Amino acid sequence: MNYFNDERKVKEYIKMCEDTNSKELIDILKNYLEKDSLLLELGMGPGKDLNLLKKYYNTIGSDNSQLFLDIYKEKNKDSELLFLDAVTINTEKKFDCIYSNKVLQHLTREELSNSILRQKEVLNDEGILFHTFWRGNSEEIYDGLRFVYYEKEELINIFEKYFNIIEINYYCEEKEKDSIYIILKKKL
Ligand SMILES: C[S@@+](CC[C@H](N)C(=O)[O-])C[C@H]1O[C@@H](n2cnc3c(N)ncnc32)[C@H](O)[C@@H]1O
Repeated sequence: MNYFNDERKVKEYIKMCEDTNSKELIDILKNYLEKDSLLLELGMGPGKDLNLLKKYYNTIGSDNSQLFLDIYKEKNKDSELLFLDAVTINTEKKFDCIYSNKVLQHLTREELSNSILRQKEVLNDEGILFHTFWRGNSEEIYDGLRFVYYEKEELINIFEKYFNIIEINYYCEEKEKDSIYIILKKKL
C-alpha cells in the first residue's frame, strides 16, 4: 500500500508536521507572484503550506492521497481541493503558479520529466513554478516511499528545457543547505 494511503501513517505524519512552518519559503514566492493569483499546490499533505498560501493567494490544494484531502476538508469546508496525481495533473484548469514543497522527490526521474511537461501545459503563459527538493545525489525507498535527492545542477538540467530558471537556492530544513528551492518561468 502507498505510504500516504495508510490511515495510521497519515495521522502520524500530520502530527509530525505540527511544528513545521514554510513562511520563509512563501515570503520568497511573494517576490515573484502577485497577491490573489491562482495557485495550485501539488501534494498538499496536512495542508500547513496551504493554510499560509491561502491568506495571500486564490488557492486550490491537491494530493493523490484521498485521506489527506478528507482530513483537511473536514476542518476547512470552504477550501477548493482536487484529487490530483502530480504526474498527470488531470484538470482542465490553468494556473498562475504551481507550488509544491518536498513532493516531487517522491516521483521517479521519468515521472518528474512527465510532470514538468504537464505543468507547462496547465500553467498560464506568465505563470511560475515554485518547488522544493531534499538535496543530495542518491535515491532510496524508505517504508515503501521513494525519495530521490537532487543537486542544483541536476535540477537545472531537468527543468531548463521548458522553463527559465528565475532563482535556485539552498535553504535549511533540518541542517544547513539540506534543501533546494527552485523558481521557474515558462519558456514561450
Ligand atoms: C512531504 S508531504 C508534503 C507536505 C505539504 N507540503 C505540507 O504543507 O504539509 C508529501 C505529499 O506529497 C503527496 N504525494 C506524493 N506523491 C504524489 C503524487 N504522485 N501526486 C500527488 N501527491 C503526491 C503525498 O500524499 C504527501 O501528501
